[in-house]
Amino acid sequence: MTEAAIRARAEELLAQMTVAEKAGQLTQYFYFGALAETQAGVGGLESDPSAVEKVLGRGEVGSLLFVTDPAQINGLQRRAVDGHRLGIPVLFGFDVIHGLRTILPVPIAMAASWDTDLIERGQAVAAREARAVGLHWTFAPMVDIARDPRWGRMVEGAGEDPFLGAQVARAQVRGFQGEAVGTPERVLAGPKHLAGYGAALGGRDYDEADVSDSALWNVYLPPFAAALAAGAGNVMTAYMDLNGIPATGNRWLFTEVLRETWGFEGFVVSDANAVRNLVTHGFARDLTDAGARALQSGVDMEMAIGDPAYARLPEAVEQGAVDERTLDAGVRRVLEAKLRLGLFDAPYVDEDRAREILGDPAHRDVARIGAERSAVLLRNEGDLLPLDAGTLDSIAVIGPLADSRRDTLGPWCFDFDLDETVTVLEGIRRHADGTADVRYAPGVRPAQRGTPSLFDMWPGNAPEDPEGFDDDAELARAVDLARDADVAVVLAGEWQNMIGENASRSSLELPGRQLELLQAVAATGTPVVLLVMNGRPLDLRWAAEHVPAILDIWYPGTQGGTAVANLLFGDVAPGGKLPFTWPRTVGQVPMVASHTRSHEPENQHARYWDEESTPLFPFGHGLSYAPFRYAGLAVDRDAITPDGTINVSVEVTNAGGRQADEVVQLYLHQRHGTASRPVRELKGFERVSLGAGETRTVRFSLGPAELRYWNAAARDWVNDLSPFDVWVGGDATAGLSTSFEVTGA
Ligand code: NOJ
Repeated sequence: MTEAAIRARAEELLAQMTVAEKAGQLTQYFYFGALAETQAGVGGLESDPSAVEKVLGRGEVGSLLFVTDPAQINGLQRRAVDGHRLGIPVLFGFDVIHGLRTILPVPIAMAASWDTDLIERGQAVAAREARAVGLHWTFAPMVDIARDPRWGRMVEGAGEDPFLGAQVARAQVRGFQGEAVGTPERVLAGPKHLAGYGAALGGRDYDEADVSDSALWNVYLPPFAAALAAGAGNVMTAYMDLNGIPATGNRWLFTEVLRETWGFEGFVVSDANAVRNLVTHGFARDLTDAGARALQSGVDMEMAIGDPAYARLPEAVEQGAVDERTLDAGVRRVLEAKLRLGLFDAPYVDEDRAREILGDPAHRDVARIGAERSAVLLRNEGDLLPLDAGTLDSIAVIGPLADSRRDTLGPWCFDFDLDETVTVLEGIRRHADGTADVRYAPGVRPAQRGTPSLFDMWPGNAPEDPEGFDDDAELARAVDLARDADVAVVLAGEWQNMIGENASRSSLELPGRQLELLQAVAATGTPVVLLVMNGRPLDLRWAAEHVPAILDIWYPGTQGGTAVANLLFGDVAPGGKLPFTWPRTVGQVPMVASHTRSHEPENQHARYWDEESTPLFPFGHGLSYAPFRYAGLAVDRDAITPDGTINVSVEVTNAGGRQADEVVQLYLHQRHGTASRPVRELKGFERVSLGAGETRTVRFSLGPAELRYWNAAARDWVNDLSPFDVWVGGDATAGLSTSFEVTGA
């Protein structure tokens, strides 16, 4: 269908719609089906699926979320298409964050791969599975910059940096959507949550964000701009107040910035209940006012758990609180998205084909490669890793997370298949089969609870407390096991329900008795490899001094155990890098690589009297099984004009004895100008795989787009005339540097 035909058809439908049908088209309902029973007490329509079905029959539902069963999707779709005179199909949306059936490593992990092709491939797999079951739209990627690890949703994003964040956002949108909205086997992508959600005060999820003009444009908005430039057809609002105005009622954000400045032509959806929340915020008078003002600010569709504010839009139109033309504009955008996605031509899904696609082994391969490439080797004293399977008679695997399928998958997944999920224990067992004796002890209580949430209701998600677990005896048993083994692999971290939405923490310590367990195991003298399962930095001060090898495996997904075994035994070498600065302690946060310089910079690393102000591991840090050397950093000219481009090259050598990966990173600093600029900003990276002794020349170019920044005084993008320093290396502390100057024309 051509764009002109899409527009004409949307117009034709619009002309036949009543005001109530238009308002319904702009409403998205949660539909929990049978699960609603376990939701008793939450209240609203979601606990009564038949109420949603009734509205659907009246042609007053634009979209449904949380249905993933193809047969159920077909059933509901039939009601919309056959049961109503206009037959407008329902758009089915869902949180396909890191896979549907095949669970990929969590988003922060994929970002740690710094491999944008892999990230794109991963989300293409997620899209293919989602589309196969009848979903059309994912509420992803989450492109919120996260600089405070107390905020549990750090796990869903790409970390602290806007440059890395923008590249990852673009790759995810391309993976989900393909070339354009409507590409076969892909889904609509909705970058979220516009904007500043990750800046919640104190890292407390949903709390207000106060973001300066400079931080908003230079840090928080670039990943959104990149996602939209990649063609994202939808955007989701955020829950909190942004600089005193609820994001979901923020006309400046959704109309002036999103539509007028960025030229966005897709549709905007609110976060769940965020329109109703305009009343909670003390912003809207009542639900009718909330609906009218959200729509007027640029929020086309309301995602509603329960009684939707947009159901009152007809009343608001009648009262003159909202213009019907504004309503029409929203409906047009939603209908056009449905037409572009091909819903009118093919509203139903092939259930047999869905089963086939969900079982595709090629998808599992992408998940395994993702887990292998996202792991970050934080420390490897004495080259303890890789383990030499030939010389080990016994391996002790310790920690309950090593034997937990659900935790291996991480937060934010629902339609996983636990039977096919490979835990770290299973992965090690399979790999060591016939060579070493692998023994296991949890050491600490297997089920530990973070924030109880909506997700606990999903089958398989709720942790079960083991009966009769003797904490002291189990800890002692684990230590005995370690004492008798040639090597102890300890897996520590956060349980999957301790991180994600509504899972903020006031501490970054290893939960429960895990540190005590780790210390007791290390005290046996058996060499220890610590595997960390996490989605944010944890307090590893003790481990970073006393444990020789630390590998961050994140929540590695369906194939996690296989990947981790391949890394431990050296079938593949780790090459991931941290997408955030790893603080020593929670008292240091927020802490980022791209801070500015001020009074007594020589003391910048001693700002606290009770703790160093350096991180435990810098942004971009990550080792491999071979060292890399950098040399020959060069710029192709000494000076450029503001519209010019400078080419930077560097020689990278694998100085080890085996194939390994390195992420070559370029950092930039503007020496002076009309604002203070960060000491270093990431402006380029490339992951390379080099054979033993191999040297490769890696090239970057820096032009006006890399050198400009948002100047809060000018309230605009500026390119200052200044000398610039460039560093290239393997993390944000890279030492090799050169410089060039931007001069007047
Ligand atoms: C609330 C979350 O903030 C959002 O990211 C998610 O997409 C919706 N719930 C739907 O589950």
